[in-house]
Parts: sequence; C-alpha cells; structure tokens
Amino acid sequence: MPDLKVLLSRETIAKRVAEMGKEIARDFDGQSIILVGVLKGAAIFLSDLARHIPLDATFDFIGVSSYGNRPTVKEDPAGHAAWDSLGEVRLTKDMDSSMADRNVILVEDILDTGLTLNYISKLVRAHQPKSLRIAALLDKPSRRKQPIEAQYIGFTIPDAYVVGYGLDYAERYRNLPDICVLENPPENPVGA
Ligand code: IMP
Repeated sequence: MPDLKVLLSRETIAKRVAEMGKEIARDFDGQSIILVGVLKGAAIFLSDLARHIPLDATFDFIGVSSYGNRPTVKEDPAGHAAWDSLGEVRLTKDMDSSMADRNVILVEDILDTGLTLNYISKLVRAHQPKSLRIAALLDKPSRRKQPIEAQYIGFTIPDAYVVGYGLDYAERYRNLPDICVLENPPENPVGA
C-alpha cells in the first residue's frame, strides 16, 4: 500500500492561500486581472485562491505535458518517484483568451525544475501582456534546472514527491484535501 504522510494540512493550506489572495489583491488594487491555471494540478488551488481576490477577475486555463520521464519504482527504489524532466514541454491546451494588455497571473501547483513555467511564461509574453506574475502554491528550489522568479509562493518544501490538493501520482490523489508525501507508490499505477 502507498504510504501517505501529511506534509501540509488542509487548515494550513487554507490559511496560506487566503494570505496569497490578499497579497495579490493588494498588489493589483483597482485593476483587472486574469488568472491562468496550469491544468490539471492547479485547478483546486486556483478555485480557492480566486475566492480570496476581491478584484475584477477572469479565468483561463493552459494545458502542458512534459516529455520527461517519471522513473518507475524499480528505477527509483527510494520511492520518491521524482519527476525527472528531460527539458521538453508540449502544449496540450492553449489559452482561450488573448493575454494582450492584461494583468496575467499564472497559477501553478508546484514549481519544480522550472521548465514548465519558463515555457508557459514565454508563450504568454509573446501576447504582450500588461504584466505577468506567477503564483505557485509549492516550491521545491533544490530541484531547479532553470531559474524562474515566482512573485507569490505558498510554501517552500523539501525534495519529496507530494500529492493531494490537485497534485497527482498517475492521475490519482488529486482529491486529497491535505498535501501528503507519497512514499512507496504503487508499482503499476493506472494512467502512469
Ligand atoms: P517543472 O517543469 O519541473 O517545474 O514541473 C512542474 C510540474 O511537475 C508540476 O506542474 C507537476 O505537474 C509536476 N510535479 C513536480 N513535482 C511534483 C510532485 O512532487 N508531485 C506532483 N507533481 C509534481
């Protein structure tokens, strides 16, 4: 059985997400913003965060997939199943709206190697937004391969594989209310 250990409780997450919403509302006081969520992991974070931003706001979503290889349990006996991206990111769903002249906030579940957000930031910048900021719930700075600056970070965490609150392992565990460290992940997960 996979072993799940709570790293961040639902109460801790809720408190920090509310603070992040306040920070964004303060920074963009009186302006309109567009929150762009990175599918699928950021869906829960975006929906909670948005309700703490009392500004004129719209939503959009972008989908990406990494050509990186998640090692199997055999290759990674420690069971952390760290996502070892090879550095190629592919767009699976483009944004629906134009980002031109908008205050764009990219909303991401976790900042790991930095490859995904670098790729998406470049795409958005090509639209010439009025401003571009990044809100990431989690940050694993020890895993960074490309430098990236996120203006709003929920929690800095150690290099462990985490699931819950939108984050998955082989599409599972997104619905866990707490963020948990996944140890001993299943050998043959469906959808891996
Ligand atoms: P990056 O491009 O390496 O920064 O990867 C970001 C993406 O990798 C996230 O959006 C997640 O989909 C995935 N990822 C990285 N670390 C974890 C983790 O600990 N749990 C679940 N997904 C992760």
